[in-house]
Amino acid sequence: MVKLAKRNLPQTSWDYLIGGTETETTVARNRLSLDSLAFKPRVLNDVSSIDTATSFLDQPMSMPILLAPVGSLQIFDPGGGATATKAAAEMGIMSIASSVCTPDIEEIAAASNASKVYQLYVRGDENWVDDIVRRVIDSGYKAFCLTVDTSVVSRRERDIAKGVSPTSPTTPGDMGYQASLNWQDVERIKQKFDIPLILKGINTAEDAAKAVDHGVDVIYVSNHGGRQLDHGRGAIDLLPEVVDIVGGRAEIAFDSGVCRGSDVVKAMALGADAVGIGRLEAWALAAGGLEGLICCLQLLQKEISGTLALMGIKNFSELDASFVTAASPVTPPSVVSAFPLLNLEDPGY
Ligand code: FNR
Repeated sequence: MVKLAKRNLPQTSWDYLIGGTETETTVARNRLSLDSLAFKPRVLNDVSSIDTATSFLDQPMSMPILLAPVGSLQIFDPGGGATATKAAAEMGIMSIASSVCTPDIEEIAAASNASKVYQLYVRGDENWVDDIVRRVIDSGYKAFCLTVDTSVVSRRERDIAKGVSPTSPTTPGDMGYQASLNWQDVERIKQKFDIPLILKGINTAEDAAKAVDHGVDVIYVSNHGGRQLDHGRGAIDLLPEVVDIVGGRAEIAFDSGVCRGSDVVKAMALGADAVGIGRLEAWALAAGGLEGLICCLQLLQKEISGTLALMGIKNFSELDASFVTAASPVTPPSVVSAFPLLNLEDPGY
């Protein structure tokens, strides 16, 4: 699938998708940290029937997977966010629409009956934000998500080196609104609107505690797939301290580096309630559109189910942190290192 995506995409789009910031250390650490966890399986537990179902935001999920918000998703499939949510409906999972992908709020809402979240980058004043939140509520989204790790556009050197910007341009003036976001804005939105609020891009126990104090409903632990701050920690390393301090007062979403069912099981073991995929979603769309994404999600579900069975677990309620432990990684980490047979012909992929 990743190979097919590479074949189908122009180099600029491929680089936009796989790239991270500056040295891409955070990208590699995301894989390194996931690979630095080993399973501690149990046996003889009758795993003849496995159930991958969970719930998130009070919505039933066939498995704990979120289609993460991806800007300019239409680069990978012309239907953009509408195609993603159709795949989510087919698979019984949730999709998160990015405010910088097409089509618009209402069209994505109408594209499927899947549970959906709308994610916003702030590009206007309070009235601008309020207008969007109202449209999101009126369109039936289950939650509103503010991404908070993107105060400035990071240096994506794969793009800079080619002198291209694969995504739609944003004026520096518009970006100022996102840079000035603060906890009062969170409080204002929380008080004014009756829709669950997700903060995406929480990286520390300190911020998770603040978010809970502000009544945030979902803490989304993510380093943006290593596309924002370089030299961050591997994302799964952030999870335990956040889960610990939140103590069940909010739900926890997690992403960054997830490519396999085993990655999903590791995150769930450490306390996530749902796990996002970003690049995997876009690779699948670029490889085969709607069918490609459905096929990818079926494969992911098979991997999750197989991992649970081999761990001696029938469903996610039996899983906890005692099923994972620190271990030495064996694979040099990279954005595609979860697929050792990939052997992309171009070493620079
Ligand atoms: C993203 N991500 C992202 N996040 C967000 O909140 N709004 C957005 O518009 C985008 N756009 C975007 C574009 C592309 C091409 C990628 C790869 C990612 C981040 C995304 O939601 C998620 O946090 C990461 O993709 C997770 O890491 P993995 O799964 O890609 O390793």
